[in-house]
Amino acid sequence: ALPYDLDGVRVLISAGGTREPLDPVRYLGNHSSGKQGFALARAAAQRGASVTVVAGSTADPGDPAGVHIVRISNAQELAEEMTKRAADADVVIMAAAVADFRPIAVADAKIKKGDQGPAPIELTTNPDILRGLVEARDDGRIPSETVIVGFAAETGDETGGVLEHGRAKLARKGCDLLVVNAVGDGKAFGTEDNTGWLLSAKGDETALPFGSKTLMSSRILDEVRQLVPDGRGA
Ligand code: C5P
Repeated sequence: ALPYDLDGVRVLISAGGTREPLDPVRYLGNHSSGKQGFALARAAAQRGASVTVVAGSTADPGDPAGVHIVRISNAQELAEEMTKRAADADVVIMAAAVADFRPIAVADAKIKKGDQGPAPIELTTNPDILRGLVEARDDGRIPSETVIVGFAAETGDETGGVLEHGRAKLARKGCDLLVVNAVGDGKAFGTEDNTGWLLSAKGDETALPFGSKTLMSSRILDEVRQLVPDGRGA
Protein backbone atom coordinates (compact mmCIF):
# COMPACT_ATOMS: atom_id res chain seq x y z
CA ALA A 1 0.00 0.00 0.00
CA LEU A 2 1.13 3.53 -0.69
CA PRO A 3 1.95 5.69 2.31
CA TYR A 4 -0.58 8.45 3.00
CA ASP A 5 2.12 11.04 3.51
CA LEU A 6 1.11 13.86 1.15
CA ASP A 7 -2.22 14.63 2.79
CA GLY A 8 -3.30 18.09 1.67
CA VAL A 9 0.00 18.86 -0.06
CA ARG A 10 -0.69 20.85 -3.23
CA VAL A 11 1.08 19.27 -6.19
CA LEU A 12 1.18 20.87 -9.65
CA ILE A 13 2.37 18.65 -12.51
CA SER A 14 2.88 19.34 -16.21
CA ALA A 15 2.45 16.32 -18.48
CA GLY A 16 2.56 15.38 -22.14
CA GLY A 17 3.92 17.16 -25.16
CA THR A 18 3.42 20.59 -26.64
CA ARG A 19 2.16 21.35 -30.14
CA GLU A 20 3.65 24.42 -31.73
CA PRO A 21 1.33 25.62 -34.52
CA LEU A 22 2.53 26.26 -38.07
CA ASP A 23 -0.85 26.99 -39.61
CA PRO A 24 -4.48 26.11 -38.72
CA VAL A 25 -3.92 22.39 -39.36
CA ARG A 26 -0.24 21.69 -38.71
CA TYR A 27 2.08 21.74 -35.74
CA LEU A 28 5.53 20.71 -34.54
CA GLY A 29 5.14 18.16 -31.75
CA ASN A 30 6.87 15.32 -29.97
CA HIS A 31 6.25 11.73 -28.92
CA SER A 32 5.56 12.38 -25.23
CA SER A 33 2.66 10.20 -24.06
CA GLY A 34 2.04 11.96 -20.76
CA LYS A 35 2.19 8.58 -19.03
CA GLN A 36 4.91 9.53 -16.55
CA GLY A 37 3.19 12.78 -15.58
CA PHE A 38 -0.18 11.07 -15.21
CA ALA A 39 1.37 8.23 -13.19
CA LEU A 40 2.88 10.83 -10.85
CA ALA A 41 -0.50 12.53 -10.54
CA ARG A 42 -2.26 9.26 -9.64
CA ALA A 43 0.39 8.29 -7.13
CA ALA A 44 0.40 11.73 -5.49
CA ALA A 45 -3.42 11.76 -5.27
CA GLN A 46 -3.41 8.30 -3.68
CA ARG A 47 -0.97 9.60 -1.09
CA GLY A 48 -3.43 12.35 -0.20
CA ALA A 49 -2.13 15.25 -2.29
CA SER A 50 -4.38 17.78 -3.93
CA VAL A 51 -3.22 17.48 -7.54
CA THR A 52 -3.51 19.68 -10.62
CA VAL A 53 -2.16 18.47 -13.95
CA VAL A 54 -1.54 20.88 -16.81
CA ALA A 55 -1.58 18.53 -19.79
CA GLY A 56 -0.58 18.98 -23.40
CA SER A 57 -0.82 16.25 -26.02
CA THR A 58 -1.10 12.82 -24.42
CA ALA A 59 -1.55 9.23 -25.47
CA ASP A 60 -2.39 8.00 -21.98
CA PRO A 61 -5.71 6.16 -22.20
CA GLY A 62 -7.19 7.65 -19.09
CA ASP A 63 -7.07 11.00 -17.35
CA PRO A 64 -6.16 10.30 -13.74
CA ALA A 65 -9.19 10.18 -11.44
CA GLY A 66 -9.48 12.60 -8.55
CA VAL A 67 -7.13 15.05 -10.19
CA HIS A 68 -7.85 18.51 -11.59
CA ILE A 69 -6.83 18.55 -15.27
CA VAL A 70 -6.16 21.72 -17.25
CA ARG A 71 -5.60 21.28 -20.98
CA ILE A 72 -3.14 23.36 -22.95
CA SER A 73 -1.69 23.04 -26.43
CA ASN A 74 1.56 24.94 -26.83
CA ALA A 75 4.56 25.91 -24.72
CA GLN A 76 3.46 29.51 -24.19
CA GLU A 77 0.08 28.38 -22.82
CA LEU A 78 1.86 25.87 -20.60
CA ALA A 79 4.20 28.60 -19.33
CA GLU A 80 1.24 30.84 -18.50
CA GLU A 81 -0.68 28.14 -16.60
CA MET A 82 2.35 26.85 -14.70
CA THR A 83 3.55 30.31 -13.70
CA LYS A 84 0.10 31.34 -12.50
CA ARG A 85 -0.62 28.10 -10.61
CA ALA A 86 2.86 27.64 -9.10
CA ALA A 87 2.14 30.41 -6.60
CA ASP A 88 -0.45 28.13 -4.95
CA ALA A 89 1.53 24.90 -5.05
CA ASP A 90 3.80 23.23 -2.50
CA VAL A 91 5.39 21.03 -5.16
CA VAL A 92 5.82 21.72 -8.90
CA ILE A 93 6.87 18.88 -11.20
CA MET A 94 7.75 19.64 -14.83
CA ALA A 95 7.22 16.27 -16.49
CA ALA A 96 6.02 17.75 -19.79
CA ALA A 97 8.12 17.51 -22.94
CA VAL A 98 8.20 21.17 -23.86
CA ALA A 99 9.24 22.22 -27.37
CA ASP A 100 12.42 24.25 -27.19
CA PHE A 101 11.46 26.12 -30.37
CA ARG A 102 8.29 27.25 -32.10
CA PRO A 103 7.60 28.58 -35.61
CA ILE A 104 8.20 32.31 -35.64
CA ALA A 105 4.86 32.97 -37.31
CA VAL A 106 1.58 31.06 -37.48
CA ALA A 107 0.03 31.26 -40.95
CA ASP A 108 -3.64 32.35 -41.00
CA ALA A 109 -4.44 29.88 -43.77
CA LYS A 110 -3.15 26.42 -44.55
CA ILE A 111 0.33 26.67 -46.10
CA LYS A 112 0.17 25.68 -49.79
CA LYS A 113 2.59 23.40 -51.56
CA GLY A 114 3.60 26.20 -53.95
CA ASP A 115 5.76 25.99 -57.05
CA GLN A 116 9.07 26.68 -55.33
CA GLY A 117 9.17 23.49 -53.30
CA PRO A 118 9.11 23.51 -49.51
CA ALA A 119 9.44 26.83 -47.73
CA PRO A 120 11.84 26.83 -44.78
CA ILE A 121 10.29 27.00 -41.32
CA GLU A 122 11.77 29.76 -39.21
CA LEU A 123 11.90 29.03 -35.52
CA THR A 124 12.22 31.07 -32.38
CA THR A 125 13.03 29.95 -28.83
CA ASN A 126 10.33 29.10 -26.30
CA PRO A 127 10.65 30.24 -22.69
CA ASP A 128 12.32 27.70 -20.40
CA ILE A 129 9.42 27.20 -17.99
CA LEU A 130 11.37 25.22 -15.39
CA ARG A 131 14.15 27.80 -15.28
CA GLY A 132 11.51 30.54 -15.08
CA LEU A 133 9.88 28.87 -12.07
CA VAL A 134 13.21 28.67 -10.26
CA GLU A 135 13.81 32.37 -11.04
CA ALA A 136 10.33 33.22 -9.76
CA ARG A 137 11.17 31.44 -6.52
CA ASP A 138 14.52 33.24 -6.26
CA ASP A 139 12.74 36.59 -6.75
CA GLY A 140 10.04 35.80 -4.20
CA ARG A 141 7.21 35.64 -6.76
CA ILE A 142 6.50 32.11 -5.58
CA PRO A 143 7.17 30.90 -2.03
CA SER A 144 10.78 29.99 -1.21
CA GLU A 145 9.73 26.62 0.25
CA THR A 146 8.12 25.48 -3.04
CA VAL A 147 9.75 22.23 -4.17
CA ILE A 148 10.61 22.27 -7.89
CA VAL A 149 11.30 19.07 -9.82
CA GLY A 150 12.48 18.75 -13.42
CA PHE A 151 12.89 15.91 -15.87
CA ALA A 152 15.69 15.35 -18.33
CA ALA A 153 15.27 13.08 -21.31
CA GLU A 154 18.73 12.32 -22.61
CA THR A 155 19.87 10.20 -25.51
CA GLY A 156 23.03 8.14 -25.25
CA ASP A 157 23.97 5.22 -23.06
CA GLU A 158 25.14 5.34 -19.46
CA THR A 159 28.77 5.74 -20.38
CA GLY A 160 27.83 8.09 -23.21
CA GLY A 161 26.94 10.80 -20.79
CA VAL A 162 23.26 10.52 -19.82
CA LEU A 163 24.19 10.99 -16.18
CA GLU A 164 26.80 13.69 -16.91
CA HIS A 165 24.26 15.63 -18.96
CA GLY A 166 21.81 15.25 -16.09
CA ARG A 167 24.24 16.69 -13.54
CA ALA A 168 24.96 19.67 -15.77
CA LYS A 169 21.26 20.21 -16.40
CA LEU A 170 20.42 20.13 -12.68
CA ALA A 171 22.98 22.86 -12.07
CA ARG A 172 21.77 24.91 -15.04
CA LYS A 173 18.08 24.70 -14.19
CA GLY A 174 18.52 25.22 -10.46
CA CYS A 175 15.66 22.89 -9.47
CA ASP A 176 15.68 20.75 -6.30
CA LEU A 177 15.39 17.37 -7.99
CA LEU A 178 16.02 16.21 -11.53
CA VAL A 179 14.74 12.90 -12.85
CA VAL A 180 17.08 11.77 -15.60
CA ASN A 181 15.92 9.18 -18.05
CA ALA A 182 17.36 7.76 -21.21
CA VAL A 183 15.26 8.20 -24.35
CA GLY A 184 15.62 7.13 -27.94
CA ASP A 185 15.67 3.54 -29.25
CA GLY A 186 12.13 3.10 -27.94
CA LYS A 187 13.14 4.01 -24.38
CA ALA A 188 10.81 6.01 -22.09
CA PHE A 189 8.63 7.88 -24.62
CA GLY A 190 5.28 6.14 -24.89
CA THR A 191 6.44 3.05 -23.05
CA GLU A 192 5.05 1.59 -19.83
CA ASP A 193 8.41 1.32 -18.13
CA ASN A 194 11.09 3.77 -17.24
CA THR A 195 14.46 3.90 -15.56
CA GLY A 196 17.11 6.48 -14.77
CA TRP A 197 18.50 8.49 -11.92
CA LEU A 198 17.19 10.92 -9.41
CA LEU A 199 19.64 13.75 -8.80
CA SER A 200 19.22 16.23 -5.98
CA ALA A 201 20.60 19.75 -5.64
CA LYS A 202 22.22 18.54 -2.40
CA GLY A 203 24.31 16.13 -4.48
CA ASP A 204 22.46 12.86 -3.82
CA GLU A 205 22.27 10.51 -6.80
CA THR A 206 19.84 7.60 -6.66
CA ALA A 207 19.60 5.01 -9.41
CA LEU A 208 15.95 4.30 -10.18
CA PRO A 209 15.38 0.60 -10.81
CA PHE A 210 13.85 -0.31 -14.18
CA GLY A 211 10.14 -0.64 -13.65
CA SER A 212 6.69 0.78 -14.29
CA LYS A 213 6.10 4.50 -14.41
CA THR A 214 3.97 3.96 -11.29
CA LEU A 215 6.93 2.49 -9.43
CA MET A 216 9.14 5.31 -10.69
CA SER A 217 6.54 7.80 -9.47
CA SER A 218 6.50 6.44 -5.96
CA ARG A 219 10.32 6.65 -5.78
CA ILE A 220 10.21 10.24 -7.00
CA LEU A 221 7.47 11.17 -4.51
CA ASP A 222 9.44 9.57 -1.65
CA GLU A 223 12.26 12.05 -2.41
CA VAL A 224 9.85 14.93 -2.89
CA ARG A 225 8.25 14.21 0.49
CA GLN A 226 11.64 14.67 2.19
CA LEU A 227 11.84 18.18 0.76
CA VAL A 228 8.34 19.36 1.68
CA PRO A 229 8.59 21.31 4.94
CA ASP A 230 6.80 19.75 7.92
CA GLY A 231 3.45 21.30 8.52
CA ARG A 232 2.69 21.66 4.81
CA GLY A 233 -0.55 20.04 3.83
CA ALA A 234 -3.13 18.66 6.25
O1 C5P B 1 16.43 21.58 -21.26
P1 C5P B 1 15.58 20.38 -21.33
O2 C5P B 1 14.44 20.50 -22.30
O3 C5P B 1 16.29 19.10 -21.54
O4 C5P B 1 14.98 20.28 -19.85
C1 C5P B 1 13.98 19.39 -19.53
C2 C5P B 1 13.21 19.92 -18.36
O5 C5P B 1 12.91 21.29 -18.55
C3 C5P B 1 11.87 19.24 -18.21
O6 C5P B 1 11.51 19.25 -16.85
C4 C5P B 1 10.95 20.12 -19.04
O7 C5P B 1 9.62 20.00 -18.61
C5 C5P B 1 11.54 21.49 -18.77
N1 C5P B 1 11.42 22.45 -19.89
C6 C5P B 1 10.75 23.64 -19.68
N2 C5P B 1 10.64 24.57 -20.68
C7 C5P B 1 11.23 24.37 -21.87
C8 C5P B 1 11.96 23.17 -22.09
C9 C5P B 1 12.03 22.24 -21.08
O8 C5P B 1 10.23 23.83 -18.58
N3 C5P B 1 11.12 25.27 -22.83
